[in-house]
Amino acid sequence: MKDNGLFDLFVEELADMYSSEHQIIATLPKLIQAASQQSLKDALSAHLKETQQQVVRIEKIFQILKMQPYEEECEAMKGLLKEGGQLLSERSKSPALDAAIIAACQKVEHYEIASYGTLKAFAKQLEFDSKIVDLLEDTLKEEGGADKKLTKIAEGTLFSAGVNEEAEEEVTHRKVKK
Ligand SMILES: [Fe+2]
Repeated sequence: MKDNGLFDLFVEELADMYSSEHQIIATLPKLIQAASQQSLKDALSAHLKETQQQVVRIEKIFQILKMQPYEEECEAMKGLLKEGGQLLSERSKSPALDAAIIAACQKVEHYEIASYGTLKAFAKQLEFDSKIVDLLEDTLKEEGGADKKLTKIAEGTLFSAGVNEEAEEEVTHRKVKK
């Protein structure tokens, strides 16, 4: 059952994500540099590599559909990244800046999870080649994984005992030194 309306919508959404992923690739290096915590830097670096693969997957999907890959500038992603950038510019390196980076990245991840989830549902409805669904599923898993990893970093080191423990260690260290 082919529906041109839904087909066009799928392609538009795919072109939107092609733009989004490129915007993310351009922004992540700045966030990696701005982050203090090594675990956050590592998580963002790993996701940068994944994002580069996600771009390749989108190109493969266009290829399967016998289309040239193209971008439709994603205004939503532009807004999310701009807002994230403002948070960063207002802070110097600190746990609060790391928290701001995590918050901004999780908003991005959730936008992507919603978009790829929609694309997957459309692909199934349009009875596309199962390879397309698999490619979307691979990316969806990575976005979900990145989101969970950020939650762990936030809960484990920034918002719960982590910060206090770090402070405690610092105090103990100073006492020992004296
Ligand atoms: Fe992505």
